[in-house]
Amino acid sequence: MQLKNLTLAALVGAVSAQQMMNLTGTIASNNATSNLTTFFGLFPELAQTLDSAQNITFLAPSNEAVAALLESNPNITQNTDALRAVLQYHVLNGTYLSSAITNTSAFVPTLLTNQTFTNVTGGQVVEAINIGGNVTFYSGLLQNVSVVQADLNFTGGVIHVIDGLLTVPANVSETALAAGLTSLVGALNNTDLVGAVNSQSDVTIFAPNNAAFQNIGSAVANLTTEELAAILQYHVVAGESPLYSSTLTNGTTVTTLGGEDLTITLINGSVFVNSAEVVTPNVLVAGGVVHVIDNVLNPQMSMAPNASATTGAPAFSGATSASEAPFTSGVAAPSTTINPSEAGAGAASSTSSALGVAMKTGAVGAAALFGAGAALLNY
Ligand SMILES: *[C@@H]1O[C@H](CO)[C@@H](O)[C@H](O)[C@H]1NC(C)=O
Ligand SMILES: *[C@@H]1O[C@H](CO)[C@@H](O)[C@H](O)[C@H]1NC(C)=O
Ligand SMILES: *[C@@H]1O[C@H](CO)[C@@H](O)[C@H](O)[C@H]1NC(C)=O
Ligand SMILES: *[C@@H]1O[C@H](CO)[C@@H](O)[C@H](O)[C@H]1NC(C)=O
Ligand SMILES: *[C@@H]1O[C@H](CO)[C@@H](O)[C@H](O)[C@H]1NC(C)=O
Ligand SMILES: *[C@@H]1O[C@H](CO)[C@@H](O)[C@H](O)[C@H]1NC(C)=O
Ligand SMILES: *[C@@H]1O[C@H](CO)[C@@H](O)[C@H](O)[C@H]1NC(C)=O
Ligand SMILES: *[C@@H]1O[C@H](CO)[C@@H](O)[C@H](O)[C@H]1NC(C)=O
Ligand SMILES: *[C@@H]1O[C@H](CO)[C@@H](O)[C@H](O)[C@H]1NC(C)=O
Ligand SMILES: *[C@@H]1O[C@H](CO)[C@@H](O)[C@H](O)[C@H]1NC(C)=O
Ligand SMILES: *[C@@H]1O[C@H](CO)[C@@H](O)[C@H](O)[C@H]1NC(C)=O
Ligand SMILES: *[C@@H]1O[C@H](CO)[C@@H](O)[C@H](O)[C@H]1NC(C)=O
Repeated sequence: MQLKNLTLAALVGAVSAQQMMNLTGTIASNNATSNLTTFFGLFPELAQTLDSAQNITFLAPSNEAVAALLESNPNITQNTDALRAVLQYHVLNGTYLSSAITNTSAFVPTLLTNQTFTNVTGGQVVEAINIGGNVTFYSGLLQNVSVVQADLNFTGGVIHVIDGLLTVPANVSETALAAGLTSLVGALNNTDLVGAVNSQSDVTIFAPNNAAFQNIGSAVANLTTEELAAILQYHVVAGESPLYSSTLTNGTTVTTLGGEDLTITLINGSVFVNSAEVVTPNVLVAGGVVHVIDNVLNPQMSMAPNASATTGAPAFSGATSASEAPFTSGVAAPSTTINPSEAGAGAASSTSSALGVAMKTGAVGAAALFGAGAALLNY
């Protein structure tokens, strides 16, 4: 009787041991991911940590994605600091089977916590969402990857094979430049706020596009540096955690750096901050998140949108438009732009941007993504 039980227990143990391997073993024995083993070899400590970790999800770039990365960045294995950060960013804290990822965005913390690369408390996040049946992860510069092989179980959790590499989110000014938000970048520079904004932890930036600044050109023309700084600080919220769209619920008020409040209103699924509409939500940055908005917010006039609003309304009464986007003179043309046609399955773009360096692409894509503000810049 005792012997019989023992044999059965041994048998069960043998079977589950055979089915379940540790993380690096599972990666190495899977034909779709085996080439990733080279990278783990560069970071034996990280590999050992991941092999003994519990309750994690590893997003494993496919062999094709790794090949594309090596092709566009032949020297990447020499940049070990950045490559380690990239790998840490591919490890989600928690076991997320593909079925747990729904058509509502979730912002999932990763093991990337090093302050050289992120100032998001609890770890930089990825946005996880199921789009029409495809499990998708958004990373920095709105770069996204799709799951091509889901739910490979290993001893510490689950692995999903993805068709590219995640992009470690860049800082606010680099991201704003890539998004064509040159008025904002120029205004931050003119007020000497670039460093302060880039180094904020757990920050949320409501970032007006260029059209927003241009529309109120007369009002911004004669602002003192102090007045402009106060206006910019009214667009920045630093709290306990970044305000991803999932936390922007109707009626929420949030306190800005300057001490004044902003009010969030939801109308027919659109998100308004005061009277400005969020036109591109959830652009992840090193310190938190940027939401692009279509009007400049005014701490002197905290307007609400009207109940049937389908677009934002200016908060500077009587202001008239300028002939070009303000504050852009001298702002370097972006060396990188966010291009939605490049984002996604295209391994070349997402891999080349894996270190926070996006592909150099035309501004047309960025204009389409970020609205008329970016387009105006090209004329
Ligand atoms: C993980 O599994 C592989 C293959 O079975 C093994 O060589 C390695 O030592 C294991 N790692 C740890 C940390 O146990
Ligand atoms: C993986 O590749 C090996 C060697 O090329 C091959 O023998 C094996 O059948 C492949 N396994 C799968 C599941 O494709
Ligand atoms: C994986 O690595 C092997 C050996 O270096 C190489 O022959 C193969 O082409 C690689 N696979 C892909 C998909 O790049
Ligand atoms: C890669 O490194 C080699 C030697 O370190 C160098 O000669 C080469 O220019 C580098 N290539 C790139 C694309 O950086
Ligand atoms: C953070 O990253 C930097 C650069 O890679 C490295 O020098 C430092 O040791 C890391 N810090 C921790 C706590 O891992
Ligand atoms: C995962 O998150 C939990 C709770 O948020 C935290 O206590 C834990 O330290 C995190 N694990 C890692 C490996 O960062
Ligand atoms: C796994 O991690 C998630 C996210 O940190 C946490 O909510 C959950 O309680 C953890 N589960 C276990 C069994 O530790
Ligand atoms: C995080 O904040 C520290 C201190 O403010 C700063 O030195 C560091 O550059 C920031 N990290 C990033 C990635 O922006
Ligand atoms: C899902 O992914 C497949 C393969 O990349 C693609 O052909 C299809 O269009 C995607 N579907 C949606 C709804 O995005
Ligand atoms: C992994 O485990 C989950 C449940 O824990 C199961 O639904 C899934 O089918 C397993 N995946 C594989 C490939 O066996
Ligand atoms: C801005 O200042 C200039 C020069 O002082 C003046 O001519 C102009 O009317 C002012 N514009 C506004 C909108 O106050
Ligand atoms: C940034 O501001 C400095 C003065 O603080 C100025 O010299 C420089 O031209 C500005 N650069 C841009 C791109 O606006």
